[in-house]
Amino acid sequence: MGINLNNVERFANLRTPFYYYDTNILNQTLEAIAAEIQKHDNYFVHYAVKANANLKVLEVIRQAGLGIDCVSGGEIEQVLTAGFPADKIVFAGVGKSDWEIELGLDKGIFCFNVESIPELEIINEIAARKGKVATICFRINPDVGAHTHANITTGLAENKFGIDMADMEKVILLAQNMKNVQFKGLHFHIGSQILEMDDFIALAHRINELQEQLESKGIRLEIINVGGGLGVDYENPQDNPIPNLKDYFAVYEQHLKVRPGQTVHFELGRAIVAQCGALITKVNYVKEASVKKFVIVDAGFTDLIRPALYDAHHRIVNLSSNKPEETYDVVGPICESSDVFDKDIRLPQTCRGDLIALLSAGAYGEIMASSYNCRKLPKAYTDKELNTNG
Ligand code: LLP
Repeated sequence: MGINLNNVERFANLRTPFYYYDTNILNQTLEAIAAEIQKHDNYFVHYAVKANANLKVLEVIRQAGLGIDCVSGGEIEQVLTAGFPADKIVFAGVGKSDWEIELGLDKGIFCFNVESIPELEIINEIAARKGKVATICFRINPDVGAHTHANITTGLAENKFGIDMADMEKVILLAQNMKNVQFKGLHFHIGSQILEMDDFIALAHRINELQEQLESKGIRLEIINVGGGLGVDYENPQDNPIPNLKDYFAVYEQHLKVRPGQTVHFELGRAIVAQCGALITKVNYVKEASVKKFVIVDAGFTDLIRPALYDAHHRIVNLSSNKPEETYDVVGPICESSDVFDKDIRLPQTCRGDLIALLSAGAYGEIMASSYNCRKLPKAYTDKELNTNG
């Protein structure tokens, strides 16, 4: 069973919309990860905090012992507040600002994933000023496609991320001649919401090629960071609440050629938090137009932008009705035509005041909320706070 939405009466007095996190699902997911990585003492998972930086969620993840993948100074500050150790933080991003680099150096993060020569030079310069040495990996663009939405594909040569493979040796030599950076390895990330294991296999093979090329020049890697990207089941989240971690880690076990002494790092975001979260919203009106029936809820794309931005589908459940089904468009109140959660979906007959859940919203939901239209940011509660799981 997936996220527990049975105790609806506990939601009744809360102001909607709000996010609801089921820590049982989160813990089950974390246990499934632990079961896979404990087979290897050189595998490390860094939770990609961009997916969800809610402190209550972070607390559960911290207790599971995961490291962190950050992409901004704000994220570094947030995870330090949450109690994660700095020496488990990797820091990626194409456009790190000086203050963010300074913060990473001052806090002593594990590694900067460097994405360009100008960035390398600035990190070296800032580290020199501080009398420090920055541990770095280079993010290489592996030119491996991923079968996912174009807006969340990152590993193609045309994408802005990483350093071209052709420049890899040149940048490593540059770094090796700098005093205030220490080159440790390579970082990759091909995209997000990837369900085809072949995409990860292609990445593993590409890494093997690059590693052999470097070894022929006498360059050894200590760190291989394969990024994140494992997808989840948005169609049937209640049947498949735990992502396919077994096959995902098996890809790297079977295909990545790891040398003695090397560590392998993973940056999973969505796979860890998507299925533990739901956006709970209330029906304000049901409007019957000539060709459609609209369910107008009090959440909009300011609360969950994924449908508007990526054509994403989140399962929509009416928690208050079990009447015969009808066909509806479920839309928000924002003054934009893209403020639509789904079209022509079957729901039990729906009335004003019904509670609606948008499932699989734990990743890239709350964290991407905005206050456009001067709307309030959604609040968030866990099952523990609402006592809904016991
Ligand atoms: N590592 C790097 C370098 C990344 O850029 C990302 C995600 C991750 C790890 C984590 O990827 P995950 O395991 O979550 O797939 N807002 C979009 C997703 C954007 C992903 C950006 N990068 C969405 O809602 O689908």
